[in-house]
Amino acid sequence: MASGGRAGTAIWDWPVRLVHWSFVLLVPALWASAEFGNINAHRILGLVMLGLVVFRLLWGLIGSETARFSQFVKGPDAVMAYLRGARGGPNTPAVGHNPLGALSVLALLGLLATQVSIGLFTQDVDGLESGPLAYLVSYDTADAARGWHELGFNLLLALIAIHLAAIAYYQFAKRENLVRPMITGRRVFDQSVRAPMMAPIWRFALCASIAAGLAWWIGQSAPLP
Ligand code: HEM
Repeated sequence: MASGGRAGTAIWDWPVRLVHWSFVLLVPALWASAEFGNINAHRILGLVMLGLVVFRLLWGLIGSETARFSQFVKGPDAVMAYLRGARGGPNTPAVGHNPLGALSVLALLGLLATQVSIGLFTQDVDGLESGPLAYLVSYDTADAARGWHELGFNLLLALIAIHLAAIAYYQFAKRENLVRPMITGRRVFDQSVRAPMMAPIWRFALCASIAAGLAWWIGQSAPLP
């Protein structure tokens, strides 16, 4: 058992934090580049987003303990138990995502992954500008993908609004600051907790290489050798 003292316990590794705050910058940048018609910038930022999402999914398999899906994705029973505990007073603080927050993490990552994937097959109104894989689908499908891409963005905005509302609820109703740990990586717990395992750097290098390689290859229109 370790509480980490006043410095707190390291719960979020730097790749999770870097990816998170990159999402925060990229979503508005992607919106602005599309809105102001800079499709080149939109394509490049979209590929960066693709690389980050792929990285985060891989990191969810072999990354640090609190980043792993197997660690924070729990069944409906755990979510219900968490909700019952929350009604009865403060829950035992989760070292990482709590079972309810995990659902929002899955929804956000799933929608980001869907949204970048659709973008790869999307073409603009007159068919002059398109995602790097639009040539693999019919004109009509690439045209329809544009509508799905717009719908996906609106759904993403809704999820982000829920995400921010949840964080504000924890801050003001439960007096739990979740934002500081997402910045510093550390959280102070009232009770003793076991410090989560942090993944070694070679795993980061492996996940980052696969993610960057995939984004680069798709950016080249995924040519086969
Ligand atoms: C574009 C907007 C945003 C997206 C797409 C987004 C997405 C995500 C994702 C995917 C996670 C899970 C982190 C992981 O396990 O890798 C997360 C967690 C988190 N995000 Fe965001 N986020 C956004 C904006 C924000 C903003 C503006 C804040 C701060 C005000 C914020 C604060 C947090 C915090 C505190 C957590 C950790 C929650 C916990 O303790 O379980 N997010 N976010």
